[in-house]
Amino acid sequence: MLTFPRFDSHSKLRTLAVLTSGGDAPGMNAAIRAIVRYGLTRGCQVYGVLRGYRGLLDNQMIQLNTSSVANLIQRGGTLLKTDRCDAFYEKKFRKIAAQNLKNRGIEGLVTIGGDGTFAAAHLMSKETGFPILGVPGTIDNDIAETEDTIGFDTAVNTAIEAIDRIRDTASSHDRIFLVEVMGHSSGFIALQVAMGGGAETVILPEKKISIPTICKTIERGIQRGKTSSIIVVAEGPKPGLSSRISEALMKYGYSSRVCILGHTQRGGDPTTHDRVLASVLGASAVGYLLAEKSNAMVGVQNDQVVLVPFTQIFRKKKKLPTSLIDLAQVLAS
Ligand code: F6P
Repeated sequence: MLTFPRFDSHSKLRTLAVLTSGGDAPGMNAAIRAIVRYGLTRGCQVYGVLRGYRGLLDNQMIQLNTSSVANLIQRGGTLLKTDRCDAFYEKKFRKIAAQNLKNRGIEGLVTIGGDGTFAAAHLMSKETGFPILGVPGTIDNDIAETEDTIGFDTAVNTAIEAIDRIRDTASSHDRIFLVEVMGHSSGFIALQVAMGGGAETVILPEKKISIPTICKTIERGIQRGKTSSIIVVAEGPKPGLSSRISEALMKYGYSSRVCILGHTQRGGDPTTHDRVLASVLGASAVGYLLAEKSNAMVGVQNDQVVLVPFTQIFRKKKKLPTSLIDLAQVLAS
């Protein structure tokens, strides 16, 4: 079980801010709530920045109190809204952002998001010296040096629920279904969903599989009496891959239906797992900021909260456990 580290350092830091950036993830609200409430308990004022890094540039910040985050832990999306802000790629804008924070007396920032969010945070912190910590919030779970990210568990459970439903119709009609899940260029969601949903095949960016091999798996199933199949497809960098595979299967004589789950996986109430993870990571980020840590991510390793410098995360590809890919295949046969 994830534990909460002890933070007892006394810092001069009295005002901090939080923002969410990149794709939203269920549990981000629970993290905001934890940052606000733990921050207030530790004697800080807490600001929320609206629409991610864009809000830093446009100076859109609101002071949050304990009631601002009431009735929030169970909600999907993000109270603070989110954005992908291209202007932040430019140094001059990162400088303006730090100045806007300082002008309000804000002395530390927590950014909740994925690797793009952390890359921007790292540059801003390095260039301006502004204390920033990152909390991993992405359904993709593709951030190196943390075993878990906020939103992953919810997204997987949403997809599993969809697959269970699709299986009913697939078996009623004796059909092959290609179910496309999110994950950009990583297969964490797809693999977990394929295992949990008992999929016949999984197609992952991390492991190439040819159309004839997919056909062989379908054929083996048919010979053993299977009349329907579920193939889970990780979207990859270009969504719509499942439609292209479906067309290719048709050329081999296999008709299939495609279901792209898309953004349904990003919405919805967070699972208990994501609520607890977000609460612990959010509060820990405040604890570490007050302990004068900066330019790092607050992640999870072996059920412990850890602080990892941003520089150790970039250019590292988080590896899918290949043994699990093989096991999923064995169990599906
Ligand atoms: O990174 C999270 C994610 O949901 C990916 O899985 C997906 O490819 C991408 O965001 C979609 O982004 P957008 O919000 O631009 O549609």
